[in-house]
Amino acid sequence: MEKKTDHIPDHVAIIMDGNGRWAKARGLPRTEGHRVGANRVREIVYACLDLGISYLTIYAFSKENWKRPKREVSGIMKLAEIFFRGFFNELKRKGVHFVHLGDKEGLSPSILKIINTMERNNAEEKKLVLSVAFNYSGRSELTGVLRRISELSANGEIEPDHITEQLISNYLYTRELPDPDLLIRTGGESRVSNFLLWQIAYTEIWITDTLWPDFTKETLLQAVDDYKRRERRFGGL
Ligand code: IPE
Ligand code: IPE
Ligand code: MG
Repeated sequence: MEKKTDHIPDHVAIIMDGNGRWAKARGLPRTEGHRVGANRVREIVYACLDLGISYLTIYAFSKENWKRPKREVSGIMKLAEIFFRGFFNELKRKGVHFVHLGDKEGLSPSILKIINTMERNNAEEKKLVLSVAFNYSGRSELTGVLRRISELSANGEIEPDHITEQLISNYLYTRELPDPDLLIRTGGESRVSNFLLWQIAYTEIWITDTLWPDFTKETLLQAVDDYKRRERRFGGL
């Protein structure tokens, strides 16, 4: 008999891709795609609250995205700041707990200020944990963990056999989160683009051609329904 998962995923991660193509198809500047995309995040957070998903993790800006033209990068930074400032109190009231994944170093003082405020005045109730990967790179995250562990080792604080998978997980940005059950990528590309490399070892992947600004609660439901029909084996039978 087939063993279907049959329940909703506890942790959904999303690579929100396709904002630029969405704008280009309409003859609009790429930043307009990012603006509409940012508004979609709000809708999907509410959809996750409705569905009873406990963790939503979104990839908003990678460390590699700094390679883009200055104008686009500064547009994204401005939109992110507006989004965080405008949405934080509302999130908190709804019991949404905010987590930042990524490096603080390299971010502007004004973005840092709002991120730090959100972390300090976080919702205690955790109806939903919303983690935002912003200035994030999976390889850089793992490099940071190796540095930290090598410091501990050099100080004689740990022995080689203390280095376990659990110890490594405890030093990742995602230390408070379970591994994602479902990874969604919008915009149709079949790659992970340096997102959560360690954490997605056994995550179910669902790719849609839908561009992020067109992604709705219905698209999320399609992904969740597909997930329910998956058989997760984790290497077993
Ligand atoms: C995703 O959309 C948002 C970010 C990477 C910041 P893109 O900007 O990558 O959109 P496409 O892939 O060019 O359409
Ligand atoms: C991945 O999208 C990063 C985010 C969604 C933030 P990209 O558009 O940067 O990925 P590539 O360049 O197509 O791999
Ligand atoms: Mg892209």
